[in-house]
Amino acid sequence: MTEPIKRIAVFTSGGDAPGMNAAIRAVVRTASHHDLHVYGIYRGYQGMVEGDLKRLEKRDVGNIIHRGGTILKTARSMDFMTKEGRKKAYDNLKAFDIDACVAIGGNGTLTGAQVFTEEYGIPFVGLPGTIDNDLAGTDFSIGFDTAVNTAMEAVDKIRDTAASHNRLFFIEVMGRHSGYIALYTAIGSGAGSVLIPEINTSVDALINQLRQSHIRKKQFSLVIVAEGNENGNAHNIAKKVEEELGNLYEAKVTTLGHLQRGGSPSSSDRVLSSRLGHSAVMALLEGNHNVMVGLTNGLVSFTPIQEAIQGQNEINKELIEMSQILAI
Ligand code: F6P
Repeated sequence: MTEPIKRIAVFTSGGDAPGMNAAIRAVVRTASHHDLHVYGIYRGYQGMVEGDLKRLEKRDVGNIIHRGGTILKTARSMDFMTKEGRKKAYDNLKAFDIDACVAIGGNGTLTGAQVFTEEYGIPFVGLPGTIDNDLAGTDFSIGFDTAVNTAMEAVDKIRDTAASHNRLFFIEVMGRHSGYIALYTAIGSGAGSVLIPEINTSVDALINQLRQSHIRKKQFSLVIVAEGNENGNAHNIAKKVEEELGNLYEAKVTTLGHLQRGGSPSSSDRVLSSRLGHSAVMALLEGNHNVMVGLTNGLVSFTPIQEAIQGQNEINKELIEMSQILAI
């Protein structure tokens, strides 16, 4: 029989995402409700390696649900990638009598959890915390909705100036390996074209699309570029397009960058984070270990961490077709 879980640790790791604080709050308060002791690990795996843990009680997570970023800070730890680093991390968890961990982060974070649990047998539950929405096993990850809203508001503003000057705008959004932010931003802002890593759209095909839309009397155009698309960054693409279409449109580029990662989480992200954080603690208590908690068709779901990191949250092809029809 395995020992009952009495002390857990929670941490955030990798890129921050709006809603992480709401998830930390849900973990701490659900755990406290069930008489568990919770420790916060600061700066993700780096803090685990360095023993940077502090007790978190109910009131320590008050007044954070609406805040972006993460009160526990975050990092991408090189030390944890080494065997020696992970040994130190294990020794620190043992020194604090930690029985299990809740890891909030993206693919790298959950990969770290998988390696660590295989080596040392510490149970983990993962929460998908990344604006990229690229993890298999959840329809949406924590921070994605807020990031899309931020990007969409920016594109709305760019639309005003693009329309006033009859310009062609390239707006680059985040997504190293995933076109989710780009596609949702494009649909939500009514952009004419979108370039994403999942679909091979050459610059020539884009030029053709834009030429056609000019023939259809479009006076300005908005192109959303996912940073991971295969034609390079928005500046390079804009340069090539302007070489061909400079007589029709003046091209401008805006890279939204890290502003997409900050800001107060949307209501959807707060509710999602609260549900996932609560369910993570319940999963640990029920012995449902080494799973990622997600939301599938609106219901809480559990996917082995191994599967969540190996898979990719597939883009719905119907959405791509729809965005093309609506942008005509
Ligand atoms: O959080 C995910 C992500 O935003 C990617 O889309 C992006 O490429 C990356 O993080 C950048 O992260 P950092 O600035 O931490 O290197």
